[in-house]
Amino acid sequence: MPADPQNEPHCGPRHVAIIMDGNGRWAQARGRPRLYGHHAGARRVREVVEACPGLGIKYLTIFAFSTENWKRTQVEVAGLMSLFKRYIIKETRTLAQNGIRVRFIGDRVRLDAKLIELMDTLERETAENDLVHLTVALNYGGRDEVARATKRLARDVAAGNLRPEDVDEETLPRYLDTRVLPDPDLVIRTSGEARISNFLLWQSAYSEYEFIDTLWPDFTAAELERLCKSFGSRERRFGAVPA
Ligand code: IPE
Ligand code: IPE
Ligand code: MG
Repeated sequence: MPADPQNEPHCGPRHVAIIMDGNGRWAQARGRPRLYGHHAGARRVREVVEACPGLGIKYLTIFAFSTENWKRTQVEVAGLMSLFKRYIIKETRTLAQNGIRVRFIGDRVRLDAKLIELMDTLERETAENDLVHLTVALNYGGRDEVARATKRLARDVAAGNLRPEDVDEETLPRYLDTRVLPDPDLVIRTSGEARISNFLLWQSAYSEYEFIDTLWPDFTAAELERLCKSFGSRERRFGAVPA
């Protein structure tokens, strides 16, 4: 397993989250179907994951499919689902060998059984890894996540395991899909849209944002490095007045 340079102190982001947007427009600009863009986008992920250790990024979270993306045509949704399956089958070995720990966040109930099985296998086969924690948001929506978390929390209250007066800002995150992850330091959205589209609503309360024009299939490790450097020069105040 490769050495872990992330244990060195550094001023870059430890957790980067990416809204990988612009695949459809990238394909359209080439006169190709939208799925062609999704395939090109999936191929970008490996380079970005591999760049993380060198940039001190311990946690990388990527938005692959939102709870709202079911509104797309049946052809696009089915194409994306089969792309996810093919991608997992193709990448499992490399991810496992390269020290990447993979987790999925989002609601699995709407996903097909074969995809869920592949997700479980990938999580299991990388569970001992610790170089980079890659989290894939699949059928993920921030509001849906908070609603599901609240349901679980309410069940604990009803069962007498939690007192309502003990519920505070530390309690809810323990019920979120991201409970084992730190909050993202930097959230990047490609494709020029300046919105978060229901991504990590609770977790990104104090994240720094970068909205860049690059379409996801054109995103490179060099661009990630540039954004990490620029993050290092920002002053994060968290509501306080700097000393
Ligand atoms: C992002 O690219 C990938 C997913 C949402 C699955 P888009 O498919 O949204 O690409 P644009 O925004 O239409 O260009
Ligand atoms: C956000 O992109 C979701 C993903 C990148 C998976 P969308 O393309 O779905 O977001 P909107 O529709 O432009 O807000
Ligand atoms: Mg889009």
